[in-house]
Amino acid sequence: MSVTIKNNADIEKMRIAGKLASEVLDYITPHVIPGITTDELDRLCHDYMVNVQNTIPAPLNYAPPGYAPYPKSICTSINQQVCHGVPGERVLKSGDIVNLDITVIKDGYHGDTSRMFCVGTPTPQAKRLCDITHDCMWIGIAQVRPGATLGDIGHAIQKHAESSGYSVVREFCGHGIGKNFHEDPQVLHYGRPGAGLALQAGMIFTIEPMVNAGKRDIRQMGDGWTVVTKDRSLSAQWEHTVLVTPDGYEVMTLSAGTPPPPAFIAR
Ligand code: MF3
Ligand code: CO
Ligand code: CO
Repeated sequence: MSVTIKNNADIEKMRIAGKLASEVLDYITPHVIPGITTDELDRLCHDYMVNVQNTIPAPLNYAPPGYAPYPKSICTSINQQVCHGVPGERVLKSGDIVNLDITVIKDGYHGDTSRMFCVGTPTPQAKRLCDITHDCMWIGIAQVRPGATLGDIGHAIQKHAESSGYSVVREFCGHGIGKNFHEDPQVLHYGRPGAGLALQAGMIFTIEPMVNAGKRDIRQMGDGWTVVTKDRSLSAQWEHTVLVTPDGYEVMTLSAGTPPPPAFIAR
């Protein structure tokens, strides 16, 4: 596969899909409280996508090579779960942190975004991990402009995570996105400045760092999807879909409820 350059018509459709994905997160936010199950969150999001937005939940039945079809419409990754947590009967309780990852398809185009939620009252350690991972995502986004490289993005993220005492998951990465859920390039969340592909206006990809409070090693659970930290430390992730513009970047997955970028990110 090769990296596609989106034209203006593609970009306009990606703006629409991206905003809709973010609006699913806005919709579900008041429901992320102690006592709800992840299956209930999945059902609420599924019904909102299908019945209100007329979007398709991209995860449902998604089956990349080597994976069984994904059985749900969203991913719900709790505490030491790194990504791809499968909704089920587990009840959220105060102190949990949970990533909700939403991908919608609208008019053939994908919008992919995720946020962390603190359920009830978070511990200071959990809150710090969520906040610093959000900063890591934005520090990566702020690197995006024509001529910068994928290594610049990865390095900036890795440096902030590791200097905060955390580690970056290596096995999963951001990805090109458009008519396909996952396409080239792979956007690693670690790397060397100046290394890798040079960015060009019209590229669209996700930046979605997974940051562990402990070591970076992960394990796959027996369900074939859920990924957890090997040392059972907490893990956080945030995700936006980003367009390379002639003079920088445009975040495509913004909506009324999107948490603002950290103050140190220039606008
Ligand atoms: N939304 C995830 C990503 O950011 C992919 C989830 S694949 C699924 O790339 F099948 F688990 F939904
Ligand atoms: Co993604
Ligand atoms: Co995602």
